[in-house]
Amino acid sequence: MREKKPFYITTPIYYPSAKLHIGHAYCTTIADAIARYHRLAGDDVFFLTGSDEHGLKIEQKAEEAGIKPIEYTDKIVASFQALWKRLNISNDDFIRTTQKRHERVVQEIFRRIYAKGDIYKGEYKGLYCTPCESYWTEHQLDENGCCPDCHRPVQEVSEEAYFFKMSKYQDRILAYIESHPDFIQPVSRRNEMINFIKQGLDDLCISRTSFDWGIPVPIDPKHVIYVWFDALTNYLTPIGFLDDPEKFKKYWPADLHLVGKEIVRFHTIIWPCILMALDLPLPKEVYGHGWLIVDGDKMSKSKGNVVDPNLLIDEFGADAIRYFLLREINLGQDGNFSRDALIQRINSDLANDLGNLLHRTLNMTLKFQDGVLAAPAGESDVDRSLKADAMATVQAFADGMEAMKLSDTIKTVWAFIGRANKYIDETAPWALAKDPGKKQELANVMYNLAESLRIIAVLISPFMPQTAERIWNQLGLAAAGKAWADVQLEDVETWGGVPAGLHVGKPEQLFPRIEVEKDDAPQNIKAAKPKKEKQQKADKQNAKKEELPAGIITIDDFAKVQLCVAEVLACEPVENADKLLKLTLSVGADAPQRTVLSGIAQYYQPAELVGKHLVLVKNLKPRKMRGQLSEGMILAASDGKALKVVEVDMPAGTEVR
Ligand code: ME8
Ligand code: MG
Repeated sequence: MREKKPFYITTPIYYPSAKLHIGHAYCTTIADAIARYHRLAGDDVFFLTGSDEHGLKIEQKAEEAGIKPIEYTDKIVASFQALWKRLNISNDDFIRTTQKRHERVVQEIFRRIYAKGDIYKGEYKGLYCTPCESYWTEHQLDENGCCPDCHRPVQEVSEEAYFFKMSKYQDRILAYIESHPDFIQPVSRRNEMINFIKQGLDDLCISRTSFDWGIPVPIDPKHVIYVWFDALTNYLTPIGFLDDPEKFKKYWPADLHLVGKEIVRFHTIIWPCILMALDLPLPKEVYGHGWLIVDGDKMSKSKGNVVDPNLLIDEFGADAIRYFLLREINLGQDGNFSRDALIQRINSDLANDLGNLLHRTLNMTLKFQDGVLAAPAGESDVDRSLKADAMATVQAFADGMEAMKLSDTIKTVWAFIGRANKYIDETAPWALAKDPGKKQELANVMYNLAESLRIIAVLISPFMPQTAERIWNQLGLAAAGKAWADVQLEDVETWGGVPAGLHVGKPEQLFPRIEVEKDDAPQNIKAAKPKKEKQQKADKQNAKKEELPAGIITIDDFAKVQLCVAEVLACEPVENADKLLKLTLSVGADAPQRTVLSGIAQYYQPAELVGKHLVLVKNLKPRKMRGQLSEGMILAASDGKALKVVEVDMPAGTEVR
């Protein structure tokens, strides 16, 4: 059996310069799945994420908003934490670089390295763009030698600054990387880093005097510590670097820093050099994951294609999003996020393969055996092959997760789900049920299916924790005293954990199928037609509540509709759709722009609408019309002949209640 050990895993600490997008959710979900796997395997896991809150950019953002930097970051960081909660991220701590505990660590590290002689005061020479308040290096400038952002001339300036003697550690870090083939993953990134170091390492400027929003240099408080020195050291703070030597000894060095590929250099060169200066061991592994692109494009605010994970969770639930991110993209590579691919995965893998297996198993157990799983006795060839496949899948799961092959591991588990579905067809329980002489054979089949699902629940738990628990509960295991929270991988390393005599629970749909809407009629100024399944679910819920006269809704029903003021930035006709206009809308300076297709072309010329402030239904499920995505619906008054959009003289983004 595998040895149990402490396991320390981290994500990058994200900048609160804007709300998090699906790329951040991607990284944190990977880390969460790995952390959950290690807990399942019995390891003593510490999983850290957090926020990187200092620096000029945040200072400027706060100033623009007219608030203090800490007020600004408090608000955005709260939205980080809310997102992680909704995504079921199981982090053990959340580090904010603005916390006092971190300030103490950073200042102490500065003092120690300074005392050692590896930090010195020097002069920082840079090319400065005054309007942008930004420093640039020679090769960052545009083709005319000007600021790459605003394209105005830059000035050569110099300021007093503290430097970290990184050059001193150049040979040691190179030797370390070369002698530790597993330190940087995947291998391609390792080669990049080796080449980078071979070009020579400069000393690193680690303080600034040109802005205030940072941790003061302890020996010279007119300086603040430069963000990366303050950021990388976050990994030491929550595991007791200064205040809990035992904890620190247990978790350091970290087992895994999971980071995006663009910051591998900081984690495999700068960070190790700082650790060497502190005489601390280096992290065991830095994994540089690839980027998520959206429908083939890099996400960016200006393109307006930034995907908000909260909206996806609203629409599809956390587990479906987690599943998609982990299944669809190979960890080291860039991968594409597309709504169509997401819906397809939900329908085929989740609703169909997994959902049906559970549903068929529970239904047949209820129908043929009054919901009771009798003790199995004897086995057929096909039973034996199912068990062998189950045990092989558990082994492949553990191997795959240890090797961080998340997508392959999921495929392996789904192959077993397919196997179990095939077992139903091979054994045809409905035929066995008709033959009184086949009672035991039927009991064996139903038992084996429930046992397969028990194993499946455990194996999908790192990826889809809520769904795993729902399956566990529906199987009746929790009601029989097997608490989900205590489940370990060991519990599925042997066949037969379902207790004989178990009463299965009532089947509940895990994932409703998402109907792909093909209709392109200009219906979006009417109420959207609710989905059948959703409607049924809603009906059930409503039935539980008070009886309402037909057509009457409660205030809670109404509160589900989010309305806001939207400014029309652009408007154009839609080809081959004479009723539709395509509106580009602003819903506030900080929010991505929206595109809405509206069936109002017979009533307005495109130019008439530009600049108008309309009312937008913000949380309507986006849908495709004429091949284009419509993200919401605008309100209009219409008597069937005339139509007028609802206008409100308030700024874009204002909530309408
Ligand atoms: O770099 N696809 O913070 P950050 C996949 N504060 N992952 C993405 C992504 C995308 N399109 N966009 C972002 C910082 N990420 C520093 C880190 S650590 C000591 C300091 C993920 O807010 C990815 O993991 O820019 C990337 O490395 C990280 O977010 C950068 O987040
Ligand atoms: Mg970045």
